[in-house]
Amino acid sequence: MFKCKITKKKIPQIIDFGKMPIANGFLKKKDFKREFFYNMGVSFSKDISLLQLNNHPKPEMMFNKDYPFFTSSSNFMKNHFKNYANWAKKKYVKKNETKIIEIGSNDGTFLQNFRSKNFLHLGFEPSKNVSLIARKNGINSIVKFFNRKNLIKFDKFVNKTDLIFGANVVCHIPDLVEFILTCDLALNENGKVIFEEPYLGSMYKKVSYDQIYDEHIFMFSITSIKKIFEIFDFQLIDVLPQNTHGGSMRYVLERKKSKLNRKVKKYLENEKKENINDVSGVIRFKKNCELSKEKLQYKLNDLKRRKKFICGYGATSKSTTILNYCNINSKTIDCIFDTTPNKIGKYSPGMHIPIVDYKNFNKKFYEYAFLFAWNHRKEIEKKEKTYLKSGGKWITHL
Ligand code: SAH
Ligand code: TYD
Repeated sequence: MFKCKITKKKIPQIIDFGKMPIANGFLKKKDFKREFFYNMGVSFSKDISLLQLNNHPKPEMMFNKDYPFFTSSSNFMKNHFKNYANWAKKKYVKKNETKIIEIGSNDGTFLQNFRSKNFLHLGFEPSKNVSLIARKNGINSIVKFFNRKNLIKFDKFVNKTDLIFGANVVCHIPDLVEFILTCDLALNENGKVIFEEPYLGSMYKKVSYDQIYDEHIFMFSITSIKKIFEIFDFQLIDVLPQNTHGGSMRYVLERKKSKLNRKVKKYLENEKKENINDVSGVIRFKKNCELSKEKLQYKLNDLKRRKKFICGYGATSKSTTILNYCNINSKTIDCIFDTTPNKIGKYSPGMHIPIVDYKNFNKKFYEYAFLFAWNHRKEIEKKEKTYLKSGGKWITHL
């Protein structure tokens, strides 16, 4: 049995993905021997409808001076964050000098859109390397985790913040209670918390179990967000589906004022209908994961029997779950092409597949390319147009 991270009640493990390394822990050969592993299992708290990891490495092991994910590595995401900012300005910015905080501001891609005189901004970004990039570009980014101890030093934002933003970060925070209490301390009376995270319903639909890895401690649904925040007298006032990261959901919350609105109610009813809010959804997902694993292993073994060359494309954190869960190593996938300088020349976590500069992708012909960055499919297919033309085939586990 494990303990729910919010209610502290005992909950059983439902899915066991086995031994896992740090998802973003791309490493050099000399470090293979001391690589860190943990057991990745998933459980579900019925009380708050929350899917969560049972074990995970400490945040400091993942978010530090060498964090290898850069928001700006995708043009599609850069554009998405511009639209996200424009939407927020139109809908929620009502005065001059609006005070905003972003948590997990990474290389500053989102906050770039708030650099005018109308805004006072602050980014909490514990990963030093990405935080420094943001600073270089004029963003007020601090190398700190978002918690009360760190917030209290910023007078101008305590009880005075209008909007707190996040994207793909709240699911990374093991102490959600501290997160909500910090929001409570930061916000002014009418302040709002707005964030978007990979959506449980999309993961179920696509069987994209690779969304589960050490950094994603929670996989949220609308029901879970509503229930968790209600404990602290926050109310969910809007939800907006997003097509990023394979299907995400944007949530808008404020301190409790009125009755649940009709739009949110409709989405909640839909989650009920599709068993996204209860344990039967997880059990169905577990079966689908097992089936997906068998199918993928069969497909790759078959290609290898037919002496096909296979490479990977996009050394994503998600790929760590696929490769380790399905036990796929460099005997099957020769290498993974990627754009990230911090990953190139290193090896993939656990399975130790070499990561190679994407500029070499067309140097040798691979008949099959496993697209691990499947959520960036359009952008990558456009960039690698000649691959399909020369007879190459993109494959995924989905
Ligand atoms: N928001 C960006 C980055 C997402 S990656 C985007 O959507 O592209 C998650 C980021 O959150 C990392 O840069 C990580 O360092 C940061 N992070 C993790 N835990 C955090 C916490 N408790 N407070 C603030 N940032 C955190
Ligand atoms: P993403 O799905 O955002 O990663 P994660 O699963 O870690 O959240 O994909 C980012 C990775 O994909 C990153 O290593 C860079 C790589 N990538 C490319 O190699 N080429 C591209 O065109 C894009 C968009 C990403």
